[in-house]
Amino acid sequence: QVQRALLALTIPLETLQEVKGRMLQAMRKGLSRQTHAQANVRMLPTYICSTPDGTEKGDILVVELCQSHVRTLRVTLLGDGNQSPQVTYKIFDMPGDIIQGKGEALFDFIAQCVRQFLAGISSPQHRLPLGFVFPFSCRQTQLDKAELISWSKGFSCSDVEGKDVVQLLQLAINKQELHHVDVVALMNDTVGTMMTCSMRGEPCEVALIVGTGTNSCFMAEAQQVEMAEEISGKMCVNTEWGCFGDDGTLSDILTPYDQHVDQESSNPGEKRCTHPPERAGSLEPGAGAAGGQRGGGWRIVPGLHQVRRDMGLPVSSHPRGMPHTQPSPSSFCGRFGEILQSVTGLLAPECTATLLPSVDGTGQGAAVVTAVALRLAAQRREVDQLLAPLRLSRADLERVQALMRREMELGLGLESHASASVRMLPTYVRGTPDGTERGEFLALDLGGTNFRVLVVRVAQDGIRMASEIYVIPTAVTQGTGEELFNHIIECIMDFQLKQNLMEQVLPLGFTFSFPCQQLGLDKAVLLSWTKGFSASGCVGQDVVQLLREAAQRKQHLGLKVVAVVNDTVGTMMSCGYDDPKCEIGLIVGTGTNACYMEEMRNVGTVEGEQGRMCINMEWGAFGDNGCLDDIFTDFDRLVDEKTINAGKQRFEKLISGMYLGEIVRHILLALVEKQLLFRGKPCPKLQTRDIFQTKFLSTIEIDGLALRQVRAILQDLELQASFEDSLLVQKVCQTVSLRAAQLCAAGLAAVVEKMRENRGSAQLAVTVGVDGTLYKMHPRFSQHLQQMLRDLAPNCTVTFLQSEDGSGKGAALVAAVACRRAEP
Ligand code: BG6
Ligand code: GLC
Repeated sequence: QVQRALLALTIPLETLQEVKGRMLQAMRKGLSRQTHAQANVRMLPTYICSTPDGTEKGDILVVELCQSHVRTLRVTLLGDGNQSPQVTYKIFDMPGDIIQGKGEALFDFIAQCVRQFLAGISSPQHRLPLGFVFPFSCRQTQLDKAELISWSKGFSCSDVEGKDVVQLLQLAINKQELHHVDVVALMNDTVGTMMTCSMRGEPCEVALIVGTGTNSCFMAEAQQVEMAEEISGKMCVNTEWGCFGDDGTLSDILTPYDQHVDQESSNPGEKRCTHPPERAGSLEPGAGAAGGQRGGGWRIVPGLHQVRRDMGLPVSSHPRGMPHTQPSPSSFCGRFGEILQSVTGLLAPECTATLLPSVDGTGQGAAVVTAVALRLAAQRREVDQLLAPLRLSRADLERVQALMRREMELGLGLESHASASVRMLPTYVRGTPDGTERGEFLALDLGGTNFRVLVVRVAQDGIRMASEIYVIPTAVTQGTGEELFNHIIECIMDFQLKQNLMEQVLPLGFTFSFPCQQLGLDKAVLLSWTKGFSASGCVGQDVVQLLREAAQRKQHLGLKVVAVVNDTVGTMMSCGYDDPKCEIGLIVGTGTNACYMEEMRNVGTVEGEQGRMCINMEWGAFGDNGCLDDIFTDFDRLVDEKTINAGKQRFEKLISGMYLGEIVRHILLALVEKQLLFRGKPCPKLQTRDIFQTKFLSTIEIDGLALRQVRAILQDLELQASFEDSLLVQKVCQTVSLRAAQLCAAGLAAVVEKMRENRGSAQLAVTVGVDGTLYKMHPRFSQHLQQMLRDLAPNCTVTFLQSEDGSGKGAALVAAVACRRAEP
């Protein structure tokens, strides 16, 4: 009868083999991002990426929460390979009702233990980092952020599930006025055990707890831990395997006894794998752990091995997979360890597992984890310090707005114009499109990422366009003016040939995206090159004339340039065709600039008081007179120094696509130098100018982008980034692009506020036509810009209209108006 009663508890080896397969499947489910939410075996990331290397150092406090007591330790790590950590500890019995009472009472009790402990060891006055061993299932997002998923092992304190346990403990500690104690890391008891066992000799990469409950953790390949997005190396995963079988996976091995125990437990149907020790009441508190201390490692549960004895499992004195020279685990762990060792050998014959009992619970290992967390926190502070000058306060931005406004006034005034850094150039464009424009035009678009030639047909039923992109090699943009304009004519001829337009003389609108003093719609003297152009012999010349001369050189006789416009103006006109409220043009691309409709009475540099004229602000040069010097950081200065127009276009160099990548690169170099990035290893590739392009910022900042993708980008640059490195690079990119968007908002706020005041209205509703790769491609730029603008100019309702057709269309519209005016 006895035999028969116990038969159900006997699991054949083949079945165990199947259970192993099911466990593997459950583990995979827990690791995968797609299936994690439904997984029973949760496979929780712990953010512990290495086992101790012996360099850990410091005076550390550890608190372990156990079933019936709290253990407090002070561990001094000397950074000597963990040869001689000094440990003092004390155990406090916990009143039985606490584990089912209020959460606050539990944490207050723990904090009181800490206070008493510190009082007893003449507590040091310097800051004390604390590591918290919390043996329950927690959703961790970093070492010091851990939300309790659910209680187990008889604990059911109110108001803790779903909360950050680190915060709860810190609050309770603060209540005890232990203001020098900082909770810097939380870990599961399995993790503490693994780290403790790693401190002597070989790294230990798996830990197992079989005590009040059961659980395991192990160092997984980081790539497999999809929930953590760790991308290289390893990360410790807390399996939380106690819940294995909660979905019925183990029903074939559950006996009526197990079912009874489950029914009578406080959480029927849950934690089935934990079942025997947790429910069977077979625990002898504290049994097995050496030194009489609890806290992880091999805990022997006599009730359990009694049950297992009759499992009919083969027990060999020299278990397979274990070198004979190893001490038999049975010497530490009795029969249970022996069976465990031998069955593991049978089920995983390819693996050699050495069982090592934890001699000191979890305490020392927890101290090591805390030391690492402390180092990370110190690094975080250093990073913040380095990035602080790039973070602008609202007051800073208001000041930029006011300065921009001042420079605008100066630029418009006849007397002050020459000394203004914002040139406020008249464009001779006096109105936005009214829909009556007609005709067929050629257009050129020079000065952005692409050089385009277009044919634009403006008819009653809309606008049709065809265009071609041509490459202008850097050797040409930085060669002679003749070469540059010859090249442009060659491209026009090629385009006309392809479009069958050789025989016609079409009027041409020229988008020329550089600062020009316009003397009329078709006369524009180049004031200076920007954005990396430097073709000689052009500054001070009328670019229309330069184009005509090149046409003559190339014997292209059918060229009739009727209008030159800046890209901001082309964009405003192009968007204005669809939205009559569009009276501002904004570019945030290779460079940055804005134009807007100003009252003629305010334009001191052009005769006449009536109506409005579009003003090309050339705001890229804002600050060239030193008025923004306190905003420039060392990184900005480094970038500026290496450009071909050092000291010029200072505002543009804080905002536009041509420079942001370089700013990021210089910050990364500084971080490497301070040993805060790439483990301080020198990165020769990062020394190369322009290697970190602004398009990387746009990709790296995509919402929800897996860190592994950030890593892939960095890998292309031959940068071997860890999880922390990738996060840090992302943070740098965010800081730089946020500053750019906010500065752009401050500039725009000055513009819309001036327009509102010009019109004497309490409110202004206006549309901004926008173009530029940074604005269009960056996932956050437009959002940050619009948000900040609302904040800085609350009386203006600003709509942003993205230009889809480029500014060539706008240039053609300006040409159309010019042609109409020229008609008799
Ligand atoms: C294009 C316009 O779409 O955007 C150009 O047609 C303009 O005129 C350009 O210069 C600005 O953006 P980027 O990123 O090319 O400099
Ligand atoms: C530069 C040019 C300016 C242009 C802007 C955007 O700032 O000087 O004319 O509008 O880039 O392309």
